[in-house]
Amino acid sequence: LVYQSTRLIRRSVGDEEQPNHWEVAMAGVNLSGIVKAYGALQVVHGIDLNVAEKEFVVLVGPSGCGKSTTLRMIAGLEEITNGDLTIDGRRMNRVAPKDRDVAMVFQNYALYPHLNVADNMAFGLRIRKMPKDQIKTTIDEVAETLGLTPYLDRRPADLSGGQRQRVAMGRAIVRHPKVFLFDEPLSNLDAKLRTQMRAEIKRLHNRLGVTSVYVTHDQVEAMTLADRIVVMNDGRIEQVGTPMELFNNPINTFVAGFLGSPPMNQIKGVLTETGAKVGNTELRLHGAINGNAGRDVIVGVRPEHVTLKSSEGTTALPINLDLVEPLGSEALLHARHGEDNLVFKADTNGDINHLYGVDAIHVPAHLIKLFDAETGRALNLGA
Ligand SMILES: Nc1ncnc2c1ncn2[C@@H]1O[C@H](COP(=O)(O)OP(=O)(O)O)[C@@H](O)[C@H]1O
Ligand SMILES: [Mg+2]
Repeated sequence: LVYQSTRLIRRSVGDEEQPNHWEVAMAGVNLSGIVKAYGALQVVHGIDLNVAEKEFVVLVGPSGCGKSTTLRMIAGLEEITNGDLTIDGRRMNRVAPKDRDVAMVFQNYALYPHLNVADNMAFGLRIRKMPKDQIKTTIDEVAETLGLTPYLDRRPADLSGGQRQRVAMGRAIVRHPKVFLFDEPLSNLDAKLRTQMRAEIKRLHNRLGVTSVYVTHDQVEAMTLADRIVVMNDGRIEQVGTPMELFNNPINTFVAGFLGSPPMNQIKGVLTETGAKVGNTELRLHGAINGNAGRDVIVGVRPEHVTLKSSEGTTALPINLDLVEPLGSEALLHARHGEDNLVFKADTNGDINHLYGVDAIHVPAHLIKLFDAETGRALNLGA
């Protein structure tokens, strides 16, 4: 029985590679049919999601899709209109935010300007009546972890953006919550610091292993941080999976166009008996077309999957190159094919001059993704 239930939990978490995620899958955060309406306006339309204990889940999607609302319902800052929220197995719908054992880190830090770093971090502990000497030990320890020891006496105004963000995280960490909730915590930082803090958050999570739900509109943050990504769109979940599952097998054109930078090219085409016709070119495909000939499709090609030279299993696609953007080791080729604007990646090998003459790229059959043109859903051809 134990063996069987372990297998079930494993499957429900859907992540065979990371054994620490299934051992304790009974805990964590569970959303079931979660709905949010403001009066007659429904903005979250029934969300089902299981976040396993110790798991780092990222909600990602365009602005206004309901990420913050969902997170704030978990935190208790927004009332849940419908559905059930449990944390660590306990129903939380009617539990006050301070009794949910969650700690939230916001984009705007929300630090007290008149308190120094130590007092900002201690604030929540004092409210919870933790003894003074214990508060000091906790603050010192967390400050050390976050590299804040030299700044304990400073006020927020005398800190850099990155340091402020660390204080905000410190304030969450000292409380030893069951769950961390992050709402775009890095959005106010410049690009370099954002990358640095992103890595720090990941290291911290690897060390502390606290269940985390992290909201961002930035797909790179989602890809780099998440154990599993939840792609949201217009108050609904489009797809849930590990970063590589979503990258390799997007369920529809929305997910395909959201993850990856630049995102997957989507080219209008039609299936024939022998391939996919896009403009005057028939792309070779991997798999049998069977009864699908004549079907309108979107042909998905990742920018990094094409080559400049032909090889076994590729088809040449003629393009009109209109821009070359060097990134260093790679360059982005912006091109037109018929009415479609396409972007491809090419190695520079230290020089971009050879790229200006490119008039065709080579598309490997086995890496092409197909989507139904009408529904946008992924289309899997038979073997
Ligand atoms: N208090 C409110 N009253 C009415 N609509 C709201 C309120 N708060 C948020 N919304 C709407 O809910 C939707 C989701 O918002 P939000 O969760 O903040 O999106 P995200 O965080 O993904 O950008 C948006 O359309 C927003 O305008
Ligand atoms: Mg938001």
